[in-house]
Amino acid sequence: MPVRKLYRAADRLYRRGLLAAGMRAFRRQPPGTLPSRRLLRALRKGWGNEVWSASEELLIGLMREAWKTPGPVLECGSGLSTLLLGAIGMRAGWEVWTLEHDAFWAEHVRQTLRRFGITNVHLLHAPLRDYGAFHWYDVPPERLPARFSLVLCDGPPGNTPGGRYGLLPVLGHRLSPSVVILLDDAGRPDERAIADRWTAELGGTMTIEGVQKPYARIEGPG
Ligand SMILES: C[S@@+](CC[C@H](N)C(=O)[O-])C[C@H]1O[C@@H](n2cnc3c(N)ncnc32)[C@H](O)[C@@H]1O
Repeated sequence: MPVRKLYRAADRLYRRGLLAAGMRAFRRQPPGTLPSRRLLRALRKGWGNEVWSASEELLIGLMREAWKTPGPVLECGSGLSTLLLGAIGMRAGWEVWTLEHDAFWAEHVRQTLRRFGITNVHLLHAPLRDYGAFHWYDVPPERLPARFSLVLCDGPPGNTPGGRYGLLPVLGHRLSPSVVILLDDAGRPDERAIADRWTAELGGTMTIEGVQKPYARIEGPG
């Protein structure tokens, strides 16, 4: 086997082990507690998609909200965050609905959820569709619950026409009045404008969180 292939195979094995050990440690923590930065770094490295995964700051913020929320939880854009939300939800007693536009990536995340015995995530392959003013996931409304209490908006990718704006016009009626929405990449002008627009449309409040890679936390009026 060429050296490069061998190296890649060894790296894959190493990361797989790192993720498995990280998930074990994460799931052993007492309910309500947050993982250390060291453990989070190991989880991100083990997942092996560091550029595209939610930042450590966002994951910490997400887990803080996840331990408080009554559920159910909606996630736009799957990956490491799906595993962590699923693991918390299994202990807290709620379910996660994840929208993923990319069929290949959806299958990869689905297989990983299966490997870790995470059974409370409904990972829906929802290709992007043109809604006129924006593109967003083609959601099957009959497969979604009535009221989400927490939303992680980490997709679709930033270059989608209209960005991530579609959440409110398409699924606004499925959000609880006191919903908490975390929107990644709020340091970028387009995402920041979307966060401002959602806040105004919900009549809620917004804070910008995170130092290295800001994200928006928007809370409904209750
Ligand atoms: C920002 S990513 C979502 C990350 C996820 N929330 C996490 O914490 O791992 C948004 C979308 O990008 C796509 N994606 C993930 N990894 C990718 C990669 N390495 N290259 C291109 N697209 C990717 C997937 O379709 C995903 O839904």
